Amino acid sequence: MSSGARPQGVTGERQAARWVREMFSRIAPRYDLLNHLLSFQLDRTWRARAVRRLRARLAVPGARVLDICCGSGDLTLALAAAAPPASLVIGSDFARPMLDAARRKSGRRRAPIVLLEADALALPFKDGSIDVLTVAFGFRNLTSYERGLAEMLRVLRPGGLAALLEFSQPPSPLFARAYRLYANRILPVLGGWISGSREAYSYLPESVNRFPEAPELAEMMRRAGFLEVRFERMSGGIVALHTGVKPDSPAHFPGGDNKSE
Ligand SMILES: C[S@@+](CC[C@H](N)C(=O)[O-])C[C@H]1O[C@@H](n2cnc3c(N)ncnc32)[C@H](O)[C@@H]1O
Repeated sequence: MSSGARPQGVTGERQAARWVREMFSRIAPRYDLLNHLLSFQLDRTWRARAVRRLRARLAVPGARVLDICCGSGDLTLALAAAAPPASLVIGSDFARPMLDAARRKSGRRRAPIVLLEADALALPFKDGSIDVLTVAFGFRNLTSYERGLAEMLRVLRPGGLAALLEFSQPPSPLFARAYRLYANRILPVLGGWISGSREAYSYLPESVNRFPEAPELAEMMRRAGFLEVRFERMSGGIVALHTGVKPDSPAHFPGGDNKSE
């Protein structure tokens, strides 16, 4: 069975995707402020660390880098800052107001990024056309995780790398209790009050609680066909960075001839 985001009271994949797009479109004007405030600025550290982990891949001359679910573009811009000038760094998202925010920010910083409106489950890229694919805090919102991973594999070139930065569950029970208290009780009130959208900030902890734990997500990536899947927890496990490599040979794909493994 396929798993994916299902906001409360919403049935069906299409309705869920529309709910997600409209919700992010509504909160776009306050998204950055809330991100930095509610995470005590840790979100900047998480993205910076993810970019550091990708540095060797980004340094390859002419690298084609795609940041899906790019939102207001913070990771896209950090990737562009770390990549050499000849690279192509693209940010894509399906919520236009988020892309507008990213466009304004990249204009102010004169950053050489390309932004486009696209659904992460149906990317407008040829098979094998991307060297590095990233997604920060967007994967959890996809209405089918399996199709999301399959689409990442499709657009990545053989040997290309995917990096997923996402909220996770802290492994320490004591810390997990304290974190859940903050995420389930305080964050919805503060976020709802500042953004004017209580439902958006109730959805956030709900979606995190429903999301697979780090080892389970790693297994999901392996089942999808990624090799060398690894994950690294950050900030006590509130967030995890998962990486995986697209196999060189189609024999490694699910449904392919895997006898050679
Ligand atoms: C929590 S925001 C993360 C934004 C950004 N990556 C960051 O690090 O701040 C999630 C983003 O995923 C986008 N998103 C969710 N589902 C999507 C889909 N199926 N296709 C494209 N974008 C999607 C939303 O529009 C939203 O901008």
